[in-house]
Amino acid sequence: MVEIVEVPLPGREYEVRIGAGLLATAGGQIAPLLKRPRVAIVSDETVAAAHLATLEAALDAEGIAHSALRLPPGEATKGWPQFERCVEWLLEEKVERRDVVIALGGGVIGDLVGFAAAVLRRGVRFVQVPTSLLAQVDSSVGGKTGINAPQGKNLIGAFHQPAMVLADIDVLDTLTERDFLAGYGEVVKYGLLGDAAFFDWLEANGAQAARGDKAARAYAVKRSVEMKAEIVLRDETEQGDRALLNLGHTFCHALEKATGYSDRLLHGEGVAIGCALAFELSSRLGLCPQEDPSRVRAHLKAMGMKCDLADIAGDLPGAETLLDLMGQDKKVIDGQLRFILARGIGDSFVTSEVPRDAVLNLLQEQLASRA
Ligand code: GLY
Repeated sequence: MVEIVEVPLPGREYEVRIGAGLLATAGGQIAPLLKRPRVAIVSDETVAAAHLATLEAALDAEGIAHSALRLPPGEATKGWPQFERCVEWLLEEKVERRDVVIALGGGVIGDLVGFAAAVLRRGVRFVQVPTSLLAQVDSSVGGKTGINAPQGKNLIGAFHQPAMVLADIDVLDTLTERDFLAGYGEVVKYGLLGDAAFFDWLEANGAQAARGDKAARAYAVKRSVEMKAEIVLRDETEQGDRALLNLGHTFCHALEKATGYSDRLLHGEGVAIGCALAFELSSRLGLCPQEDPSRVRAHLKAMGMKCDLADIAGDLPGAETLLDLMGQDKKVIDGQLRFILARGIGDSFVTSEVPRDAVLNLLQEQLASRA
């Protein structure tokens, strides 16, 4: 069964289709978008080895011609050199304004290809075929595209909505358990930021989803995408509410920097730890019930996920340095740190009013518990 979540942005409406076997029928799904039977696909070498043949066969079945570019896998691809290579390849392939580009991959490919589509001939349409859980529930939906700069992550980019998103639940079977759980960090984030009933559901069904249950996975992806679509509709360019999607991210970005964006800490793992810290901070500031941070941590622990600084291997800098790294977050406005805090599970809000000492104390205690 295919679930459809509509993203009805005026003039740029699109569907996120979620279900098993979507890659194998991608030709039929994409065909109605095409003005001529031809697409350009951009993927990475790892994803292409696992899934490109299925996509190509699906396009062949509909008589859609295709060519593919395989970029190196990994975050380092998301910069000017591979972006230039991608844009020039699309031009060499004579992709025209009315054509469609397909991004087949995780967050790096989706962001880079979306940005290439945004600037190619001043904007061509693109279809996201996200192959990681993180990309299915977050980065493929909502139109944030871009690349990293030497000065920081995601500093160069554009809002450019996809023409369609095909989230095939079957492709999640090829993820490692660690990558699945990292993506699950973003799923938990949705429950925590705006839907207590979804968090209840995750407590009851998260383990089943991690074990591979297709129905549980499809529901977790669908509910996450529904929530993201709702927020993007209210605030496409992040003037306000869209910042709620950054629950856990202020802590996460500092921890990612401190660990050198290495596999010591995957982005979704940092989000999970960041969510636990945001709830702990909210409770200490008297904003949310005292039992909420324990409940958040208990679920993350039950899933076998990282939830404390103690769960990060290797050295970490001191609390002051971590706080400084938070100050370099791109969401800082007028030098004020912005946090997403919570009044309870499913009830988050954006604030700049967080006493520096409260954050510092929390980090110091967490770091001391690593000793
Ligand atoms: N990943 C956060 C956003 O799309 O706004």
